[in-house]
Amino acid sequence: MAKEFKRYLVTSALPYANGPVHIGHLAGVYIPSDIYTRYLRLRGRDVISVCGSDEHGVPITIKARKEGVTPQQIVDRYHALIKKSFEGLGMSFDIYSRTSSKTHAETASAFFRKLYDEGKFIEKTSMQYYDEEAQTFLADRYIVGTCPKCGNDRAYGDQCEKCGSTLSPDELIDPHSAVSGSVPVKRETKHWYLPLDRYEEFLREWILDGHKEWKTNVYGQCKSWLDGGLQPRAVSRDLDWGIPVPVEGAEGKVLYVWFDAPIGYISATKDITPDWERYWKSEDTKMVHFIGKDNIVFHCIVFPSMLKAHGDYILPENVPANEFLNLEGDKISTSRNWAVWLHEYLEEFPGKQDVLRYVLTANAPETKDNDFTWKDFQARNNNELVAILGNFINRSLVLTHKYFDGKVPAAGELTDYDRETLREFSDVKGRLESGIENYRFRDALKEAMNLARIGNKYLADTEPWKLVKSDMDRVATILNLALQISANLAIAFEPFLPFSAQKIRTMLGMTVTEWDMLGHTDILETGTQLAAPELLFEKIEDSVIEAQIKKLQD
Ligand code: MF3
Ligand code: ZN
Repeated sequence: MAKEFKRYLVTSALPYANGPVHIGHLAGVYIPSDIYTRYLRLRGRDVISVCGSDEHGVPITIKARKEGVTPQQIVDRYHALIKKSFEGLGMSFDIYSRTSSKTHAETASAFFRKLYDEGKFIEKTSMQYYDEEAQTFLADRYIVGTCPKCGNDRAYGDQCEKCGSTLSPDELIDPHSAVSGSVPVKRETKHWYLPLDRYEEFLREWILDGHKEWKTNVYGQCKSWLDGGLQPRAVSRDLDWGIPVPVEGAEGKVLYVWFDAPIGYISATKDITPDWERYWKSEDTKMVHFIGKDNIVFHCIVFPSMLKAHGDYILPENVPANEFLNLEGDKISTSRNWAVWLHEYLEEFPGKQDVLRYVLTANAPETKDNDFTWKDFQARNNNELVAILGNFINRSLVLTHKYFDGKVPAAGELTDYDRETLREFSDVKGRLESGIENYRFRDALKEAMNLARIGNKYLADTEPWKLVKSDMDRVATILNLALQISANLAIAFEPFLPFSAQKIRTMLGMTVTEWDMLGHTDILETGTQLAAPELLFEKIEDSVIEAQIKKLQD
């Protein structure tokens, strides 16, 4: 059943360059995509991973207006901040691009132009809200009013953030301008629409019949959109920030941000390799979009319809969207500053990137919304990373240094207990693979941690330190096995905890790491000199956690 693909193209939703990245983004999109990509690389697959800043759209111009700077200044600031903090966390994108780039403007324009020339758009004139005071049309978030569904009086012209409904400006009760506050009038304006209704049949067949393996939350949302019937969607806006609509008579109009942004995946690939078409135009490529649940309709319905209309490009094989992560029992909110910001975490917890990666994976909102708490962060660090993984690796190394001058001792005859231990971990590889390949990263991480538990138990049960006087050969066998398990851990954890995996490899003197070595007990050659042991994780004290909770509440 499973098709063999020759290469992989992994995309991660382009973050809006109007604010920093927080733990919700990381848990929902970026950490899963990085685990998946690192895993594929470790398996020796041909893979590229693209991301970049989404630099158009109304929230950016609103922020610029508020701060009295240009939209370009806003995106420059946040693009640099996001890029740097992703690097700090060890995100291994092949490129972190941006949609204000020249390549992107050309790619998005050409895409629009092709669809336009082939008559794939509908041109329609309609009455839209116009702010006479500010002399501007009020696209999307420039119009604010009361949500017809939940009564929230700060709903936007495209969406209500309180109840999550998708809205159109005409549905808002008591609409007013976010620019001047005035009550808008209606004015005639022309726009281009992608007639999604014409793609309904294709989408039904492709998703509902062809991709029953997609996550239930994703499949379910697609089904409900399709069952509700699709309408033509405007792909242009009256705005002065964005990519100009590349046709005659479109002055003052730009491409809708959700039209240009996903094309950013294509432009980013172009900026990596002149061979980009091999990734985008071959059925041998497996394209996977990592996104948050609020992006499902755009990645499963709108962008695939654009790709289909264009005709040259492949469609995604999977769109593993996650649900949302809450923080201390409350919805993460930028405006209320209820968030843990990545750039601040990196400053306040230097060297602890893997702790965050671990906690956000162990607690990822894969099938339902989930909660991040600082107490849980502390408990997972102290009870799992320190007490199990760190402790096991450290003991194996320290004991080898103590009894064998830090050289991998030779294994002798195995006991039944040794064999039982080996049997327990021989399934780990398959279980990790099936977890990661099916986007169940929490389960996969548990498997990796289970391997460390097996090692820890092995040392506790065999107590080599008690045999030093009586049976040095047995000590050698035990430590050989413990070190082989440690080497396995360096491989198993590489997709999840890249910094720690690297440290383990260095300590063990491992020169090559290949996924297929997983499950083997001859990874380290006898006599290999080990480096001095270095602690992988350290206990996090109550005071540190209390300070973080206090910071949130202030
Ligand atoms: N900027 C969007 C968001 O944060 C995601 C854009 S994904 C892309 O929700 F495909 F459009 F690039
Ligand atoms: Zn609402």
